[in-house]
Amino acid sequence: MKIALLHTQDALEPPVDPVLDQLESALRTGGHEARRLVVDDTVQPLVTSLSEDRPDLVFNIAESFGGKSALESNVAALLNLLGLRYTGSSPAGLILAGDKTLTKKVLSFHDILTARFATVFRGNVDWAGDISFPLILKPPQEDASLGINQKSIVNDVKELLQTISSLQTEYQSPVLAEEFIDGREFYVGVLGNSDVKALPIIELDFSGYPADRPRIASWEAKWGDDGDEKGEEFAGTKSVFPTDLPEELATRIQRVAMDAFNALRLRDYARVDLRVNDREEIYVIEVNPNCYLEEKSEFASAAAKDGIDYPTLIQRIVELASARYSR
Ligand SMILES: Nc1ncnc2c1ncn2[C@@H]1O[C@H](COP(=O)(O)OP(=O)(O)O)[C@@H](O)[C@H]1O
Ligand SMILES: [Mg+2]
Repeated sequence: MKIALLHTQDALEPPVDPVLDQLESALRTGGHEARRLVVDDTVQPLVTSLSEDRPDLVFNIAESFGGKSALESNVAALLNLLGLRYTGSSPAGLILAGDKTLTKKVLSFHDILTARFATVFRGNVDWAGDISFPLILKPPQEDASLGINQKSIVNDVKELLQTISSLQTEYQSPVLAEEFIDGREFYVGVLGNSDVKALPIIELDFSGYPADRPRIASWEAKWGDDGDEKGEEFAGTKSVFPTDLPEELATRIQRVAMDAFNALRLRDYARVDLRVNDREEIYVIEVNPNCYLEEKSEFASAAAKDGIDYPTLIQRIVELASARYSR
């Protein structure tokens, strides 16, 4: 097949994202002709390229347009309008899962547990039921822990107001305030469509995390530095395959991940982030359609653990996408 690997400009900015080479090589191993195509901040060159090239399939890893992650779904929408086939979720799925508040509303309709929450925007408050401190505040349409650090966790009204005000100034968007779920953190990859499957569960192990801080996968924990902080959160967290999870609980966690995937109408592949408290209540924190596919990412590692090596995983995604269009 002739496959266009559609990615954003960010992936090319140093440090260049290794996922591009990895995907390209996996696609070639699968016998495909792969060509990269960049989504920048102007649509016309992209439309021209796609219309002239007419790839058999677009492998869509573009998570933003013009640097704006809120515009991610529009890239998939454009592919729809051009009549092209592409991997991953539709605009509907990307919109639902791309907005953490909408995600929570849809999941609660399906009786899937998420942290109780409220949203605040320029004095307008949207909430259902009581919520209590501690809370974690986040911009609802960002990813990669953008805007998430120790100041995101607030314990009283003063901290709440301060953080709301700084998030609103920075992101010009509503602020999502949700109850802080104290517990273990898990990531579950989901692969498939009508017949979805959950990959082995990965845990974010916080055992080396600074003892005096609430445990969160902050920007610093994920990427290593946050200005003046020195990377203790990064050094203190690692992804592991938990060995002490009772089978019954592991099965329930995987079930919740698959239910969330289906409730949000996702396609092909996604990663679901969850937290489980002492009472073994399973909360969905967020769902990532078209999740990061780097070889060492949680998703690809979980697939490898399940016996699906990298080229096979990428070929599986190509096949899942192609099968949707041939039905
Ligand atoms: N309600 C919550 N309770 C406890 N921790 C949370 C909650 N929401 C988010 N976190 C922490 O913050 C991290 C990032 O939040 P998340 O919503 O997944 O944002 P992102 O899209 O940036 O990954 C999570 O991995 C988790 O560690
Ligand atoms: Mg997350």
